[in-house]
Amino acid sequence: MSSHDQESTRPLGDGSDASLQNVHADLTANKPEPKDGYSMLPLFLLGLLSALIFVGSIYFVHYRGGVDPLVYDERFDPKTAAKSATVATVDPIAAGKRLYNQPGACATCHQVNGQGVAGVFPPLAASEWVSGSDERLIRLVLHGLVGEIKVKGNTYNGAMPAFGLGSGFNWSDEKVAHVLTYIRSEWGNAAPAVDVAKVTAVRTQATAGRTKPWTAVELEAVP
Ligand code: HEC
Repeated sequence: MSSHDQESTRPLGDGSDASLQNVHADLTANKPEPKDGYSMLPLFLLGLLSALIFVGSIYFVHYRGGVDPLVYDERFDPKTAAKSATVATVDPIAAGKRLYNQPGACATCHQVNGQGVAGVFPPLAASEWVSGSDERLIRLVLHGLVGEIKVKGNTYNGAMPAFGLGSGFNWSDEKVAHVLTYIRSEWGNAAPAVDVAKVTAVRTQATAGRTKPWTAVELEAVP
């Protein structure tokens, strides 16, 4: 290696003050200027991440399956599942019993045992009204009942409140059907269940617009 080669690779020249200052001047002149504002790359990344989170949220809402762990169950076997599948259904008698005994409802007057209160509230157990025409029962529970009525040979003259939609109780057709199905099967009564569809038909067609309570005379005219 010659002395000339060595000289040219030395960064500080000959080591004099002047050459040192030259080198420093060179370095400061080539420093990048500090910049104002944002550089484009982080802005782009921020936008990309936001878009991914946005799209991800929409995807999640669409495909989350109610966040139910059973949506994907690797042990699920359709063959055995079909046999053991149970459809959740409401037991109208159990539902009707709860409604009947609800505070302020039927049991308040007709009593839990369906015997009523002598001279004031007629009995539902073994009542010819309860086991008779369901058309009449639906009407008297939907809109109430006033005036004289004969039950099991005794005459009552009181008032029963309305329970149907729009009344103070505002019971759905389903609730009315359930409570009637219950009283027709309890305390030794054995009359057929009352259909929700029938309650709906009576309310929206046969008695549409009716709000005032029935009298026993009116009901007796209903088949
Ligand atoms: C505030 C008291 C009261 C409540 C609550 C009440 N009833 Fe009555 N219910 C009566 C009275 C009083 C009569 C008789 C009405 C009359 O004298 O015109 C009657 C009559 C009846 C009758 C016809 C007569 C008979 O004994 O078979 C049935 C059926 C009946 N109620 C069922 C019900 C059902 C079902 C409920 C609940 C959804 C209910 N009642 C809630 C007071 C009540």
